Amino acid sequence: MREKIKNYKIKNYFKYYLKVKNMITSNELRQKYLDFFKAKGHSIIPSASLIPDNDPTVLFTTAGMHPLVPYLLGEKHPEGKRLTSFQKCIRTSDIEEVGDKTHHTFFEMLGNWSLGDYFKEKSIAMSWEFLTSPEWLNLDKNKIAVSVFAGDNDAPFDQEAFDIWKNKINISEKKIAKLPKKNNWWGLESGGPCGPDTEIFYWTGDANKIPDSFNDDNDLWVEIWNNVFMQYDKKDAGILEPLKQQNVDTGMGLERILAIVNNLADNYQTDLFKNIINKIEQLSNKKYGINEETNKAIRIIADHIKAAIFIIGDYKAITPSNTDRGYIVRRLIRRAIRFGKQLGINQTPWTNEIAKIVVNDYANIYFELQKNINFIISQLNDEEEKFSKTLENGLKQFENQKLKVKSISGQIAFDLYQTYGFPIEMTKELAKEDGIDVDEKGFWEYFKKHQELSRTASAGMFKGGLADASEETIKYHTTAHLMLAALKKVLGNHVAQKGSNITAERLRFDFLHNEKMSAEQLQQVESLVNQAIEQDLIVSCEEMTLDQARTIGATGVFDSKYGEKVKVYTISKGDNIFSKEICGGPHVNQVGILGKFKIKKEESSSAGVRRIKAVLE
Ligand code: ALA
Repeated sequence: MREKIKNYKIKNYFKYYLKVKNMITSNELRQKYLDFFKAKGHSIIPSASLIPDNDPTVLFTTAGMHPLVPYLLGEKHPEGKRLTSFQKCIRTSDIEEVGDKTHHTFFEMLGNWSLGDYFKEKSIAMSWEFLTSPEWLNLDKNKIAVSVFAGDNDAPFDQEAFDIWKNKINISEKKIAKLPKKNNWWGLESGGPCGPDTEIFYWTGDANKIPDSFNDDNDLWVEIWNNVFMQYDKKDAGILEPLKQQNVDTGMGLERILAIVNNLADNYQTDLFKNIINKIEQLSNKKYGINEETNKAIRIIADHIKAAIFIIGDYKAITPSNTDRGYIVRRLIRRAIRFGKQLGINQTPWTNEIAKIVVNDYANIYFELQKNINFIISQLNDEEEKFSKTLENGLKQFENQKLKVKSISGQIAFDLYQTYGFPIEMTKELAKEDGIDVDEKGFWEYFKKHQELSRTASAGMFKGGLADASEETIKYHTTAHLMLAALKKVLGNHVAQKGSNITAERLRFDFLHNEKMSAEQLQQVESLVNQAIEQDLIVSCEEMTLDQARTIGATGVFDSKYGEKVKVYTISKGDNIFSKEICGGPHVNQVGILGKFKIKKEESSSAGVRRIKAVLE
């Protein structure tokens, strides 16, 4: 008997060992993807910031294409026409969905792009090769199905993509679904480059029961890759205009494809979560994988704290607050803390323990995290301290109300927000768990009276969307360069851009500086910018390596492990060099057309960050 047990154990250990040994790690998978596309002539570009530049309609980078919009619209990219990257992304549209097997707030997107180079046939062939070739991912061809755009009044059926799958790749017709816009069309919410897409699905059910036709209602078919054929520019009125160039934009979620190649039942079992989950198990004394309620809490904590760490640790750091992006960070941390409490985590503070794991896990991939670890930890500790103090009393207050009135009035919801720090979304979630109602409208009425949270956070501005590249926004973009250079001259070299938000009417600009600017300093900045405009300085653009940009003293972010090429925009005339900045463009050619620059407001944005609002008159 004992022998039998021993053998059984050895056999199981051996099985486990083989399984781990054969697993492909996230690091290997990212590298494989880049290697594959590099071999196909793509330049590797670094992951951009999670906080998009010059985009007033979106809070975070939601896809790999986001930083590439100007190039998809026709700007020349310094690295050429074929690009590949893995991009850190935040999607907040379904924070409340997180807790199941597949949703994440933070994820990484593997992507490859053709900027007016190859189109449908080559794109599909490369995806197929990467997924199925024994040299690459070696996935089972029989488990793959696809969908293509069915066509509607705006754009025709994608016959070309259909024929490529059927005749070149030899996928059976039954496994090629023709689906409408809601499935097979991609673009950012408010316009810009867009087009039909083809999506690739993988069968995750029983290997002996692979259906011979594809049905997108069956959850066992999991979407793994989206190839978008961007041939239109969606204009303001929703009108589609053909783009000058035909682009390809693809995206494959790293967490999901990693789970699939390793044959794991959910994304949270991959190495992108394993250490984090071990830590949560240790802190809570609960096990992952035993019951669904515990699983849900563990996944929420793992996802939310990771997302908050990436946002706080970004080089354009966003800290918890009651407005815009800061409000999202606050919601993420507070929701995680509530589930931590539910799970029985008693240690305080504890979220920093998770931060150490996340930073360590991603240290070789996202250098900014290690660099900012102390800042991340102090922000998490502060937020946790603020919320932990009131959480328990708030929950008691919630329970009392629930028992008394069986619903949560607007006033109570507002009190939970103001006195106990409960984001309204959290109150709604608690109420939903108990099957009771919240008077959300009433909440917002109270709220408006107090007018704290900015409209953007309340109006659900969490979807994709980009500002147009209209003449006016381009002018403001160039003005932002002039202003940053002027701020450095007046306040000192510590001034660095933390973010900007440009519309056709105004410029909003956040920068590092510790104190309020005096009236005199503001006046100096204004007149430096206006002088540059009066002198009609010339804007020129040069491509160079990041190292060269650093050597010539260009302003910008130098955090990257690839020796990639960048564009440097210089604003000068003869020897008078006013500004030199790394930037994707576009810009005006001469600054004389900008008009008169006027600062409307200077205020605090968050700790150590000031905000200027300015206009061109
Ligand atoms: N931009 C496309 C997506 O996010 C690839 O699905």
